[in-house]
Amino acid sequence: MHACTKAGYKVPHLCYHEDLPAFGNCGVCMVEINGKAVRACSTPCEDGMQIQTTGKKLLDLRREALEIILSNHPNNCPECIKNGRCELQDLAQELAIRHMHLKKVRRKYKGRDESSLSITLDPSYCVSCGRCTYVCNEIQDVHALENSDRGFETFVGPTFGRLLEESECVKCGQCSAHCPVAAIYETDDSDELWAALDNPDLVLVAQEAPAVRVALGENLASNPAPT
Ligand code: SF4
Ligand code: SF4
Ligand code: FES
Repeated sequence: MHACTKAGYKVPHLCYHEDLPAFGNCGVCMVEINGKAVRACSTPCEDGMQIQTTGKKLLDLRREALEIILSNHPNNCPECIKNGRCELQDLAQELAIRHMHLKKVRRKYKGRDESSLSITLDPSYCVSCGRCTYVCNEIQDVHALENSDRGFETFVGPTFGRLLEESECVKCGQCSAHCPVAAIYETDDSDELWAALDNPDLVLVAQEAPAVRVALGENLASNPAPT
């Protein structure tokens, strides 16, 4: 994946994220290496590789992998909070998915978890990419999320089957920042904000989150962070 990207050849992908290790979960990033189809994200680069990134065989394999994911997805884009900024939607467009050849098979899910003030979980949108559990557990070191059940029934949720608000979650937002779909997202309070802006009896105070200043400080290698 890195070699192709560096050489200017884009390989479609879903579970891969440049901040994270390769999980090899989705099967979308297929390329041919010396004639053999492999997942680009989890295949180490070696000298002498002849890498093919386009062609009918690869298009078919990528579409097949994406259709399997779409067959267990709500596919109600107009109503979805990530409509227009969803990696799955972008991929379906890029691979020109027009007809679904697979029967729709939906898993049973717990409902949406809106217990946290900041983060909403909706496992019915999850594409099992693995990004959120990795960032929460291995990068943030919080261990608030886990994969429950196995195989087709796998779903992501707070550890020990709790609600997110009951878990160790510190509301850092890294899971929602990395989720490619609408399975984990920042809770949208814009309707309440509009109502408050429209209320002449309220005085509103706007304040940026400290995390923004910290992130800027880290990026500019400034310590302490600018205020
Ligand atoms: S907001 Fe942060 S701590 Fe909470 S589940 Fe997401 S990554 Fe983990
Ligand atoms: S919740 Fe989002 S980031 Fe986590 S596994 Fe599902 S799709 Fe991936
Ligand atoms: S991007 Fe490589 S398997 Fe998902």
